[in-house]
Amino acid sequence: MKAIRTTCLAAATLGLAWSAAQAGVTVTVSCGTVGQDLEFCKKATDEWSKKTGNTVKHLTIPQSTSDILGLFRQMFAAKSSDVDVVSVDVVWPSSIKAHLLDLGPYAKGAEKNHFPAIVANNTVDGQLLAMPWFTDAGVLYYRKDLLEKYGEKPPTTWDELTATARKVMDGERKSGNADMQGYVFQGKAYEGLTCNALEWVASYGGGSIVDAKGDITINNPQAAKALTTAAGWIGTIAPTGVLNYGEEDARGVFQKGNSVFMRNWPYAWSLSQGADSPVKGKVGVVNLPKGGDGKPAATLGGWQLSVVKYSKNPAVAADLVMYLTSPEVQKDRAIKGSYNPTIPALYKDADVIAANPFFGTLYETFVTAVPRPATATGAKYNEVSAAFWNASHSVLSGNAKADDALAKLDGRIKTIRRGPKW
Ligand code: GLC
Repeated sequence: MKAIRTTCLAAATLGLAWSAAQAGVTVTVSCGTVGQDLEFCKKATDEWSKKTGNTVKHLTIPQSTSDILGLFRQMFAAKSSDVDVVSVDVVWPSSIKAHLLDLGPYAKGAEKNHFPAIVANNTVDGQLLAMPWFTDAGVLYYRKDLLEKYGEKPPTTWDELTATARKVMDGERKSGNADMQGYVFQGKAYEGLTCNALEWVASYGGGSIVDAKGDITINNPQAAKALTTAAGWIGTIAPTGVLNYGEEDARGVFQKGNSVFMRNWPYAWSLSQGADSPVKGKVGVVNLPKGGDGKPAATLGGWQLSVVKYSKNPAVAADLVMYLTSPEVQKDRAIKGSYNPTIPALYKDADVIAANPFFGTLYETFVTAVPRPATATGAKYNEVSAAFWNASHSVLSGNAKADDALAKLDGRIKTIRRGPKW
């Protein structure tokens, strides 16, 4: 009896016996368009459709999270029911809380299977506004074959990365690959640069822009040192084009075999190991370097799924969210698409670890990643982030010196805060 009950429980937790309250309904979902986002999302929504008899339409959204937020804000302002389920960046729940449905009654405790910190992030004013879908942290990709060829090890400091990138890049260019770069990352003026620049700053001990108490901490010498170091890469180990790179631009260069190092999120792993990838079998993944005697820092990223308040079919939409975020779907996405699960138990799954060895070696990095100051700044986070990415971009482009840019940024963030409190 006990054994039977355990098996049923396991089947239910894995979402094997799925059934929605209603059939014959059409819901529209936005899943993302970076890398394999759409393909994997469609696969899972097709499965749900088969199980429930409902239909799913996919809304095409931009690649940049900053642009997606702009689009959603317009749709929310119009109380549009054109989209039922939205993908929600980890930094958004407080700022778009007014437009999301409380999923608590639908989750029925399923959220307890997920990392408590992410659930806490997604719970605003006591309401579970988003179910965790996958988590993210910035990691360093490197060319194993090239480091071996030049007798180098993966770098642990930014100075080591700079020196190794230079040496390997110069050597490869001399031996005929004129396109070889040393380091590619996300340097465009958007949220992705906020993530990269926060990693540099935090790894130099320069804090996280605004601290948990809401104090503005960014104007400090360690932060200036971090940005100055990064500015030194432009046109040396990184192409000047990196000032306009998002995730997919960096991945394009690295995956073609034209960069020694790349900063990216875990999704790039499975693509780099694809049958048609020129760098298949030649890639390693480690922690990002630290600044001097600081500590390595990875920005916490990740996506959730929410039901929009203006949906005409909230119960069916919520059922889809529960399916897409279930252990069964998260496991498949982890194995085939290197999307980090938000369910701790899946990091002990042998198949998940075999497909993504760094999910095991970098587990601590994923659970201790540095959050952007979205909780402290609340609805004003996007404005603060835009001020930070613009200041960082001006330093990278050589238009401003780091200490001047940070002093100005401090003033700008104070203006955004308007007063002593957020
Ligand atoms: C990834 C992260 C997300 C972040 C974005 C920046 O999608 O998961 O949290 O905001 O990259 O480009």
